Amino acid sequence: MLQVLQQLPADPILGLSAACRADPNPHKVDLTIGIYMDEQGVCPVFEAVQLAQRALVAEEGTKAYLAAAGDEHFNTGLQRLVLGEGSTALMEGRVSSIQTPGGCGALRIGAEIIHAAAPGAKVWVSDPTWPVHIPLLGSVGLEFRSYRYYDPATHGVNFDGMVADLKQAVAGDVVLLHGCCHNPCGADLTLAQWGVIADMAEQQGFTPFVDFAYQGLGDGLEEDAAGLRLLVARLPEVIIAASCSKNLGLYRERVGATIFVCRDAANARAILSQAQVAARRVYSMPPAHGALLAGRVLTDDHLGAIWRTELTAMCQRINGLRSNLRRALEAKCGGDYAFIEREKGMFSFLGLTAAQAQRLRQEFGVYMLDSSRINVAGINARNLDYVAESVAKVL
Ligand code: LMR
Repeated sequence: MLQVLQQLPADPILGLSAACRADPNPHKVDLTIGIYMDEQGVCPVFEAVQLAQRALVAEEGTKAYLAAAGDEHFNTGLQRLVLGEGSTALMEGRVSSIQTPGGCGALRIGAEIIHAAAPGAKVWVSDPTWPVHIPLLGSVGLEFRSYRYYDPATHGVNFDGMVADLKQAVAGDVVLLHGCCHNPCGADLTLAQWGVIADMAEQQGFTPFVDFAYQGLGDGLEEDAAGLRLLVARLPEVIIAASCSKNLGLYRERVGATIFVCRDAANARAILSQAQVAARRVYSMPPAHGALLAGRVLTDDHLGAIWRTELTAMCQRINGLRSNLRRALEAKCGGDYAFIEREKGMFSFLGLTAAQAQRLRQEFGVYMLDSSRINVAGINARNLDYVAESVAKVL
């Protein structure tokens, strides 16, 4: 039976990261996978998470399963972080959430619920989007349409194109939006543009599904949530896939949640019951360790303050790296790289062809995706000039 299956090509992100690890080139630089690296090239564990972990290990008395909805403490802490302490939807009790294995699990459970509610729903995705969105949501049986988003000529959002395309989204359709720090392009909507999307959702009746994996890595925890919170304040229904991989550094622990903002409290309870059944079908119940750590950090004032300071430093360093990279590229390559400073979060397109990205990998050991998406957080003082010089050589 199994022999009918063929070898598949490597994942476009994980495969290149593995290829970089295997590359013996001493100058190699990994700008592929979206992981925050410090100046030493290490993906650090937050101090707040280490403190929470020590306390958890000392106190933890069981490894019994979590409930399908996950840890309550974590769910309420994350709801408040994402929606804001003063969220009206939260106060009205019309929000429910389920802890999931990472942001991917959150997207998958969101897709399961969308498919259960509207099996013919079309999901509108930005062009470009994270390459995993379509296989992840599509495996549930959802169909896709794409809307224009990134304009390579301006390195910004083609908002007129986006609006023109989304005019075709109808009630029962879902529009997948990147809450902040767009992956892969780093170009985000302004608050006024979020307002236009809210108007369109109100008038046309589509449901926003917000992938929110980078809260705190663009401008700050509150600032990065502004667009999403505007939707939640204005619309009866919003689905959110939240992840703690990046902003709590819990990548391998797989911590996330699908948050459902519903029309009323009864519907929020009904959707949670549906999500629990969907989770049981796919993975039964989520892993505990990371969510118990995140739950502590998010609900303890002392740990929360330490974490916010660390996250702010991380965010500021990424923005500093953006400025350094802009200057280094302009010095070595000429041209205008100001867009790198305008963008938010970890990612940016350098505007290279796939052939140039391949040459960078093969000849210089500088690894980026074929689309020329780089993880800005992989740059440091030691590799900055080398990256810029290598780019200049392939241009
Ligand atoms: C990325 O885009 O590099 C990250 O979101 C990691 C992943 O799973 O692809």
